Amino acid sequence: MAQKKASSTEVTMTQLVLPNDTNNLDNLRGGKLLHWMDLAAAVSAQKHCNNIVVTASVDHVSFENPIKRGDVVTLKAKVTRAFRTSMEVFIEVWAENIPARRKVKSNEAYFSFVALNDLGKPEPVPELIPETDLEKEHYNAAAVRRTQRLEHAGRRS
Ligand SMILES: CC(C)(COP(=O)(O)OP(=O)(O)OC[C@H]1O[C@@H](n2cnc3c(N)ncnc32)[C@H](O)[C@@H]1OP(=O)(O)O)[C@@H](O)C(=O)NCCC(=O)NCCS
Repeated sequence: MAQKKASSTEVTMTQLVLPNDTNNLDNLRGGKLLHWMDLAAAVSAQKHCNNIVVTASVDHVSFENPIKRGDVVTLKAKVTRAFRTSMEVFIEVWAENIPARRKVKSNEAYFSFVALNDLGKPEPVPELIPETDLEKEHYNAAAVRRTQRLEHAGRRS
């Protein structure tokens, strides 16, 4: 089975928060942010496996700071570890008010994707090679997170 470097799965997505993305308080809707996170993370997983992927699960996400209309949202996603047919992706989100020169980290999350073949069945993915210290940290901890999320989903790991 092929191997791929974690760095080759990096994805950066930038979005401008427009009126249609906000609630009545002019804050970005949580569902809209989850949508963008899912897209950026899915593209990262696709870069790793070169296949169609589906979202299998999303680990705990909390919204600590509101993101306002007019802010620029930057999402950075990267595969942390590949298992047999599934991949874990770490995604971080920042919100920037450019005129105020203020940029804050909004949230982060782990998404899990499964690669599917043309028949819609799970397909083995390449092994992921972590290189930097941070990539190795994410990689090593991913096995524990996987066990926890599969237990939470009522599956055997
Ligand atoms: C995810 C899905 C493909 C798993 O299919 P399955 O028939 O259960 O396949 P398997 O039991 O062979 O599992 C395949 C992989 O999915 C992983 N998986 C299954 N449920 C998971 C979960 N809740 N979280 C993380 N990974 C999960 C398994 O661990 C396995 O990974 P591995 O091969 O790396 O060990 C299937 O449940 C599905 O299609 N779900 C709907 C996906 C979707 O439509 N997402 C969009 C939301 S609407």
